Amino acid sequence: MLVFTNKSKIGAHISSLKQDGESIGFVPTMGALHQGHLSLVKEGLANNSRVVVSIFVNPTQFDNPDDLAKYPRTLEEDVALLKTVSDKIIVYAPTVDDIYDGNTKAQHFSFDGLEFEMEGKFRAGHFDGVGTIVKRLFEIVKPENAYFGEKDFQQLAIIKKLVTKYNLPVTIIGCDIFRESSGLAMSSRNVRLKPDYKKAAPFIYQTLKEAKIKFGTKSADKTTKWVEQQFKNHDLLQLEYFIIADVDTLKTVKRKNKTNTYRAFIAVYADDIRLIDNIALN
Ligand code: PAJ
Repeated sequence: MLVFTNKSKIGAHISSLKQDGESIGFVPTMGALHQGHLSLVKEGLANNSRVVVSIFVNPTQFDNPDDLAKYPRTLEEDVALLKTVSDKIIVYAPTVDDIYDGNTKAQHFSFDGLEFEMEGKFRAGHFDGVGTIVKRLFEIVKPENAYFGEKDFQQLAIIKKLVTKYNLPVTIIGCDIFRESSGLAMSSRNVRLKPDYKKAAPFIYQTLKEAKIKFGTKSADKTTKWVEQQFKNHDLLQLEYFIIADVDTLKTVKRKNKTNTYRAFIAVYADDIRLIDNIALN
């Protein structure tokens, strides 16, 4: 499997593949790959003759230096795992300098307000960092199609906005959330959960599923209060936010109506590990 660390080299390789008529799918990741990432890669392989997987822990999207320092980095295992999937995969694992040329700063973006909701409220500057790296990676990889998980639903919405605003020549494809058998959404952070927290964490998705049922008959406000109550006395899990939002604006729902589509979003601390999840409500 080809593993590139340099943007000019992967750029040249991709140009020659395109000249040979190959189509390029792209899955950007921060590594510590799991089945959730692989589900995106497989979707890419089904619709493109090559799939580029980038592995880069992007410093500009972390608001918390400790979270950045502790983020798992497992490049060798990641490459070994991708080798078992297909020989049509190309890895791009750049250094910080290859991406940022000595200026590790995020560009500032407007995503028409999407960036101020949910994760944007709790992780200052996060989406500027995500926009900066994804735009740069698109310029290097020049994919026809790029795959993002609904696990990070707000990120997916923001990337779609980025592509529209900058008229980028790439199609964005959203992919379902891949879960462990316990229901816990797969995440690179799950490997850091101590056994008690790992056991407790499926409560997050269970609560989302119950909230979906409640929302069938109750208001957004009542459903939200019910969820907050579930976490109030929990020994191990600390609720950061639970929000029911309109999928188009990501704004918190005040009064529901029959024509809009809603989704519930949650962020929870298990010890010092932040877990997010979401569920479609209608
Ligand atoms: P990372 O957290 O590594 O996730 C890479 C991609 O995998 C994202 O599109 C994410 O939504 C998707 N993903 C993660 N867990 C998933 C799951 N359980 N089911 C389905 N998809 C899942 O998201 C990032 O990296 C970064 O912000 C990035 C876009 C790479 C920019 O740095």
